[in-house]
Amino acid sequence: MNTDFEFDSAPDRRDSSSSKWEKYGGRDVIPLWVADMDFRTAPCVIDMLRQRVEHGIFGYTQPPKQIPAVVTAALERDFGWTIDPDWIVWMPSLVVGLSVVSRAFAEPGEEVLTAIPIYPPFLSAPRYGERVTVTVPLQECDGRWLWDFDRLEKAVSPKTRTLLLCSPHNPTGRVWSRDELTQLADFCERHDLVLASDEIHSGLVLDQDKKHIPVASLGDIAARTVTLLSASKTFNLPGLGCAFAIISDEQLRSKIQRTMRGIVHHIGALGFFATLAALRDGKAWQLALVDYLRGNRDLVEAQLSSIPGLKTWHVEATYLAWIDARELSVSDPVAFFEEAGVGLYDGKLFDAPGFLRLNFACPRSRLEEALGRIREAVLSR
Ligand SMILES: Cc1ncc(COP(=O)(O)O)c(C=O)c1O
Repeated sequence: MNTDFEFDSAPDRRDSSSSKWEKYGGRDVIPLWVADMDFRTAPCVIDMLRQRVEHGIFGYTQPPKQIPAVVTAALERDFGWTIDPDWIVWMPSLVVGLSVVSRAFAEPGEEVLTAIPIYPPFLSAPRYGERVTVTVPLQECDGRWLWDFDRLEKAVSPKTRTLLLCSPHNPTGRVWSRDELTQLADFCERHDLVLASDEIHSGLVLDQDKKHIPVASLGDIAARTVTLLSASKTFNLPGLGCAFAIISDEQLRSKIQRTMRGIVHHIGALGFFATLAALRDGKAWQLALVDYLRGNRDLVEAQLSSIPGLKTWHVEATYLAWIDARELSVSDPVAFFEEAGVGLYDGKLFDAPGFLRLNFACPRSRLEEALGRIREAVLSR
């Protein structure tokens, strides 16, 4: 393990226009809500950006010549997934990708299916385009979140066009197994659905005995899959706006490109160059980050499981813990913990009222302080 990388201390983000920190500007609230990390990105990314900034010209930018080969090599290295560079479609963010996918394959009034709880834009992206979001609950079984295939079958109608999959899963932290993905792929084949797979958290698998499997690497399902990816979660670059879709089927790809035309803005130079450096040179930093996050995850799980009234689940991937606070019997759990000095994300937005999401991607001492405040608030209420 490379110990040259620093995660125990982090720059002060107050007054840096950070969405995460500005929400509680001037208040003593530790922000553990939106999914960005309080760590500096990999040194190789900062060096690359420095060089590009020194150039001093920021005109319209096309994808750097090397970047298709870098993306291709990274997917082969990380997941054994062989793609053709021509399958890559650049877009400025994953959320844009969710909206584009929702509109490309369903007409207004037609249905896009997903499972809850889920990262909020999965619910809003179809609705913003006047498509209908249909949801089925994941089921919690022996401490793990699973797909409920019976309910999924019942939720399909003649108007269903697309399944939105989050893999690994935000907010439950599940890494879907080969069997689970195969069942989802079969389901999409049987009902003639496009499978849109958001794999933005694929670089953040914490369990050493688990591996992320790109669903499109499983065979025939690739022909109906749009995989959405970005270096931004793993390397903490969401402020630079660079993401991409991998679409092997030419018809699906051109539908996506047509839906984007004239609306979706091109990518900025800094986003491209940061992505290039991260995917090409960032592996050692990524491994050190995942190791550090694993330690934070263990701390969160140990602490939260000993606080009466809170229930949490093992986080296999991501830096997000999902918490059931319903037994606390407080009317507004977010306000309750804000009052105690910790800012959490409201489960309501994930279609799960009474739940909370905690982002543990921060220096451990800050996390310890936040967990202490949570414990104190619960015990003294
Ligand atoms: C599952 C998932 N998809 C997409 C995003 C956002 O991606 P972007 O910032 O590229 O829109 C997030 C951010 O937390 C996420 O968790």
